[in-house]
Amino acid sequence: MPFESLRDFFEALEKAGEVRRIKTKVSTDLEIAEILRRVMYAKGPAILFENVDGSAMPVLGNAFGSMRRMEIALETQNFESLGTRLTELLNREIPTSVLAKLRSLPKLAEITGYAPRVVKQGPVMQILETEAPSLSFLPALKTWPKDAGKFITFGLVLTKNPESGSRNLGVYRMQIYDEKTMAMHWQIHKRGAQHFKMMAEQGKRLEVAVIIGADPASTYVAVAPVPEGLDKYLFAGIIRRKGLELVRCQTVDLEVPANSEIVLEGYVDPNDIRMEGPFGDHTGYYTPEEPYPTFHLTGVMRRTEPIYLTTVVGKPTLEDAYLGKVIERSFLPLVKVFQPEVVDMSMPAAGWFQGIAIFSIKKRYPGQAKKVMLGLWGLGQLSLTKIFVVVDEDINIQNHDEVIWAITTRADPKRDTLIIDGLPTDTLDPASPLLNLGSKMGIDATVKTKEEGFERGWQELEVPDPIISKKVDDKWPEFGLGD
Ligand SMILES: Cc1cc2nc3c(=O)[nH]c(=O)nc-3n(C[C@H](O)[C@H](O)[C@H](O)COP(=O)(O)O)c2cc1C
Repeated sequence: MPFESLRDFFEALEKAGEVRRIKTKVSTDLEIAEILRRVMYAKGPAILFENVDGSAMPVLGNAFGSMRRMEIALETQNFESLGTRLTELLNREIPTSVLAKLRSLPKLAEITGYAPRVVKQGPVMQILETEAPSLSFLPALKTWPKDAGKFITFGLVLTKNPESGSRNLGVYRMQIYDEKTMAMHWQIHKRGAQHFKMMAEQGKRLEVAVIIGADPASTYVAVAPVPEGLDKYLFAGIIRRKGLELVRCQTVDLEVPANSEIVLEGYVDPNDIRMEGPFGDHTGYYTPEEPYPTFHLTGVMRRTEPIYLTTVVGKPTLEDAYLGKVIERSFLPLVKVFQPEVVDMSMPAAGWFQGIAIFSIKKRYPGQAKKVMLGLWGLGQLSLTKIFVVVDEDINIQNHDEVIWAITTRADPKRDTLIIDGLPTDTLDPASPLLNLGSKMGIDATVKTKEEGFERGWQELEVPDPIISKKVDDKWPEFGLGD
């Protein structure tokens, strides 16, 4: 059975020995962040801070900060299978014959089971505040000394596409201004920002709910760059293989997971734009202040004793790297739908998701590596990736030494580097010449063919003599040199 809540997931982590409880009093003002970062850099456990100065609530951090914890969260060791589940549903053939229709019935029932359903009551409704709601009960963190203030860093921001009604969950940080207002830091390319723009063009406010502490599948989908049009609650159901139970918000027309810890209801006003930041970001630099719209609180729903989920970011590798790795694995099947020659992809954590991505391909024709790059720069959030490296399928791209070997032996900078200017860049890229606009670099590190103008003929790869190799294999145990 999938986890229904953050606390179910937390219990499983604790049983697996993946949690450390800290009873010493700690402060939300830089101290918790400093502890969490040290633990994350040391590849340590999830931490539950039970004694948080000025707050009755325990604070949970680093809950997703290892591959083992991600496996527990999503109940699989094969993250690619999550993406395959999605592509199989999207690729479903339309049954034409009666027999085919009958055969597809169990599958249709399965999809129906993945859809969310609205229920009347849920634990998140234990306390409802609609008269004088306030943000002051939250143990939000100040995470770096020059941050503009305290931020909610792991809220799932729920919005609805005003035209299609399709719901989005995105993790966007929020800077708390006062008891009622916060900055909404959805970057221009994200779906939340798109929904906001659609409403702003009509001069209307966009209703928003911020979920803090939900079941792990909902948390994963909020970070995942799914194609526009796919309702993220449905996607969470597909990941969990069971639909979510939702309850209606009190002051906005939105539904939230019934088992959430805390829900903040409100709206984002196109006429209230304020400066957000600076914020010590996951690039390792402070993102400077920029204008963002303001969230206005209209209601709070919460459990009587909620757990406050948080994370901290900074120069890689921290907790978000593991979420990124799972996204890389689970989105590989989707990437292959668009670029079938792709064999594997790697988004090294040091490149903070959007800095660099490496692809191996099964190359069949001249120029194919560059074709793959151009295709992927047009695909969802991969369009924000600054540098692509494409290698042949014989390179294990999860081993970055092999990638460097391929670049340095198979690429000529003049012939094999593609530089394109004037494309969207990640909002956080500190080196981008303009905010959200800059250039891309692609390195084609595949073996070059005659058709690609490589007349010299490719040098032969070194391969051991097979007879000698077999002889050494047989004698190897005698040498006492290990496996
Ligand atoms: C810890 C963490 C913090 C994030 N903060 C932000 C943020 O402040 N703004 C933003 O646009 N994306 C942020 N992201 C990335 C988005 O959650 C991610 O791009 C996601 O796919 C949302 O995009 P979508 O709403 O278009 O689906 C963050 C991700 C993580 C893991």
